Amino acid sequence: PTLEKDLLPLYFGWFLAKRDEDYLRKTSHEFLEQLGNLKAFKKRLQPCMFGSEDKHKLDLMKYFAKSPNILHCTSKFCDYGKIVGSEEYAQQEAVKKAYSKGYTLHLSALFATPRTVGAQVELTADQLLLWPSDAEKEVMPKDTLPRGSRAHITLGTAADVQDVQTGIDLLEFVKLQQSGKEGENLGEMSGSVAGKVSYYDNGMWMLNLSQKIEVRSIFSGYYG
Ligand code: A2P
Repeated sequence: PTLEKDLLPLYFGWFLAKRDEDYLRKTSHEFLEQLGNLKAFKKRLQPCMFGSEDKHKLDLMKYFAKSPNILHCTSKFCDYGKIVGSEEYAQQEAVKKAYSKGYTLHLSALFATPRTVGAQVELTADQLLLWPSDAEKEVMPKDTLPRGSRAHITLGTAADVQDVQTGIDLLEFVKLQQSGKEGENLGEMSGSVAGKVSYYDNGMWMLNLSQKIEVRSIFSGYYG
């Protein structure tokens, strides 16, 4: 008899419920539209940044040409088991128990860089149990960043940019904030994206939502 081993997914994570996914995609478009129309944004555009060859034709929605098929917050990237620690992750009691359960994700900020656009996820204590302890160190080995600070939802990427870049970009913001650089307050957004807009140099923009966005999700694996 063959010993059967559980198949490991491409990644584990929280997958947004359809209605909430639609809402977040709309919100993301609204964010990019308001950002593109911000005077401060246009003023700080470097040559060619965000596809700005022609300032009057700037279209951020076009610039972020790619968007994931299913909006989700990755907890552990496994690459079907090729990544070390995947098996151990999958075997954790907390992971097995959470599998296929519903969770509400809290989004505290939206951000855009010349590479990616994403949402910052504030994990609850329950959700942090499913967060790998080395997720932040993996990207920024020299820094000690709060556990869960890489948690995000990729909303879009520029052509030729990998989705994994979104979490790296988010950690760049967190690192700056930790070192006391709060970003330059450059205005407000309204409506479904109400909040304060901060600029962190090098084309890094963050919108701190005045009211967190809550989306429903299911914790599961993606086998693609
Ligand atoms: P993210 O979680 O930022 O969206 P891909 O399509 O490239 O195979 O990636 C599948 C998913 O796994 C994406 O959601 C992606 O990024 C995430 N991902 C890819 N590579 C990594 C990695 N090395 N570490 C963490 N997450 C990754």
